[in-house]
Amino acid sequence: MKSPLHQKPDYLVCTCMEVMYSQIVEAIENGSKSFQELSESLGVGTGCSSCIDEVMQILKEANASIDKK
Ligand code: FES
Repeated sequence: MKSPLHQKPDYLVCTCMEVMYSQIVEAIENGSKSFQELSESLGVGTGCSSCIDEVMQILKEANASIDKK
């Protein structure tokens, strides 16, 4: 069963590295717990850095929803 996180429409979060919302959620579900880990695995935030706040927000929401499972 897919988590409710996947019900959001997918969108491009990091335009520099072309990382989609769904890729970030997937990485978090697969165990990434910090911005650092997401940045290393997906490259988010390694360009202009303007997506960092957005990624942090997704991380927070995803972790909250994963904890509830
Ligand atoms: S949009 Fe993510 S680093 Fe520029």
